[in-house]
Amino acid sequence: MLEVRNLCKSFGGLEVTKNVSFALEPGERRVVLGPNGAGKTTLFNLLVGELLPSSGDILIDGASITGLSVDQRALAGMSRSYQKNNLFEDLTVRENLALAASAGLSKTRWLARDSFHDPEVRDIVQDVAQQVAITEILDTPVHSASYGNRRQLEVGLALATRPKILLMDEPTSGVGPGMISAFNQLISGLPRELTVVIIEHDLDLAFDVADRITVLNYGDVVFEGTPAETRGNQIVRDIYLGDWQADA
Ligand SMILES: Nc1ncnc2c1ncn2[C@@H]1O[C@H](COP(=O)(O)OP(=O)(O)OP(=O)(O)O)[C@@H](O)[C@H]1O
Ligand SMILES: [Mg+2]
Repeated sequence: MLEVRNLCKSFGGLEVTKNVSFALEPGERRVVLGPNGAGKTTLFNLLVGELLPSSGDILIDGASITGLSVDQRALAGMSRSYQKNNLFEDLTVRENLALAASAGLSKTRWLARDSFHDPEVRDIVQDVAQQVAITEILDTPVHSASYGNRRQLEVGLALATRPKILLMDEPTSGVGPGMISAFNQLISGLPRELTVVIIEHDLDLAFDVADRITVLNYGDVVFEGTPAETRGNQIVRDIYLGDWQADA
């Protein structure tokens, strides 16, 4: 349903995305692994349209979206959470979710909506708060919420637009072990029809939730396979033992 064909991106002379190709089944959970600077976030920026590729194509259900804007891609069902929190600190958790829900609805209806009183917005806020396990802190200002709760809210904002494809950029970055298992539950509990791509550094979580894994290194896809195949793969072991060296 989401397909990437020969995607390339350079910044000046630096090739950050090199001929990246992959295809996701509807409802698939794909984890993207790779060391710092491998080009994982850049790939997400290309998928959502925050960056334009140097060449290559991105397709949803067989139709190219490469020429579409960020808003048009959101309308096509793509939504992403950020590696670093991207929240309105002085608003409550509920208000943050309501704004995201309302933006998602307005895009489909071409209406400005009154986020806080619209029953449809209220329903989405409740649903999403449950999905990301933050119902207890809906009326807490974001700046007073724990770091882990803020990471959950970050994913909630992406879900509040009711996407078909959810991209999560290191949802567990900076959280402790207890919170990693909370994210494991969160991801496992997402609706099965939602297609999910997760950039993740925690290998146990990755192996647990992924249907398939794509490994990036220096902008190249160096491996794709099931969690079991990935676990046994020498290239992946080398990268994660920190002594990866290109053959060239
Ligand atoms: N706007 C930009 N201009 C120039 N270089 C960039 C830009 N964005 C990213 N890069 C470079 O591209 C490479 C890949 O960066 P990217 O953020 O995609 O890596 P990543 O795999 O997400 O890393 P991390 O695990 O640290 O988040 C890095 O060398 C980075 O410095
Ligand atoms: Mg990144």
